Amino acid sequence: MDLGIRGKRALVCASSKGLGRGSAKALAEAGVDLVLNARGAEALEATAQAIRDRYNVQVTAVAADITDPDGRARVLDAAGDLDILVTNAGGPPPGVWSDWGREDFLAAIEANMLTPIALMSAVMPGMAERGWGRVVNITSQSVKAPIAALGLSNSARAGLTGYVAGTARQVAPSGVIVNNLLPGAHDTDRIEALDSAAAQKQGKTRDEIRAAKFQTIPARRYGTAAEFGAMCAFLCSQHAGYIVGQNILLDGGGINATL
Ligand SMILES: NC(=O)c1ccc[n+]([C@@H]2O[C@H](COP(=O)([O-])OP(=O)(O)OC[C@H]3O[C@@H](n4cnc5c(N)ncnc54)[C@H](OP(=O)(O)O)[C@@H]3O)[C@@H](O)[C@H]2O)c1
Repeated sequence: MDLGIRGKRALVCASSKGLGRGSAKALAEAGVDLVLNARGAEALEATAQAIRDRYNVQVTAVAADITDPDGRARVLDAAGDLDILVTNAGGPPPGVWSDWGREDFLAAIEANMLTPIALMSAVMPGMAERGWGRVVNITSQSVKAPIAALGLSNSARAGLTGYVAGTARQVAPSGVIVNNLLPGAHDTDRIEALDSAAAQKQGKTRDEIRAAKFQTIPARRYGTAAEFGAMCAFLCSQHAGYIVGQNILLDGGGINATL
């Protein structure tokens, strides 16, 4: 399928690895020029070069912490006028409810709620003026069903989801389409870290933890960054103009719900 976005310009945040990189690759395959971002310059440049070599699109890499106002400003300056924005950042650390104090919540809200809101606030006026835009926020399945150990994520992402629900309907008349993409378990460094932490805590091997988790997922496996990226690129495509303010769950059937 031709996604109809060849020659558009996208910022994909937190994209040197994992779901951000999967999304960047899928957009590049559709012919989209990219601005990529992550904190670590080495992995970021490696991803940028691999995408340039394979897809023949323009790729600008900006090493910066997207949750930091100065870092974000540098990324946005380099990005210029954007057609597509994919927001993403690292997820908060796991724990239990009694671990978390005000500072932990403020950090999670800053990273996973206020950062995507700041990015949307910065780029959506230009998109609206030009009459076309696509925004995909990478959130989490924890928005639909809480993950107890990720209470910081459950809380901050719920706030972002509420913001998007109202805002998506305000900008849609200007051709700006905003949706959230909710990953269930995907095989990335993030899930590797969570599995290793769980293994240590429970006195099991990482493979035992994974095997037990696969049994809870009807697809009996984790998702891949490529599958995730393909859905992200579709939501950024010409074909997605009637999908407004939705929360699209990619979880292998893990959440047992009719809707
Ligand atoms: N994978 C899953 O199963 C899953 C499930 C639900 C939700 N999620 C959420 O989806 C998001 C992406 O997860 P992932 O699995 O792709 O993680 P990942 O494999 O650990 O990759 C994270 C990427 O984000 C970059 N990054 C992290 N913090 C950043 C920051 N402050 N500023 C700029 N770049 C930053 C990392 O590079 P640097 O470290 O160099 O900055 C890296 O490129 C996370 O918020 C995660 O909580 C993931």
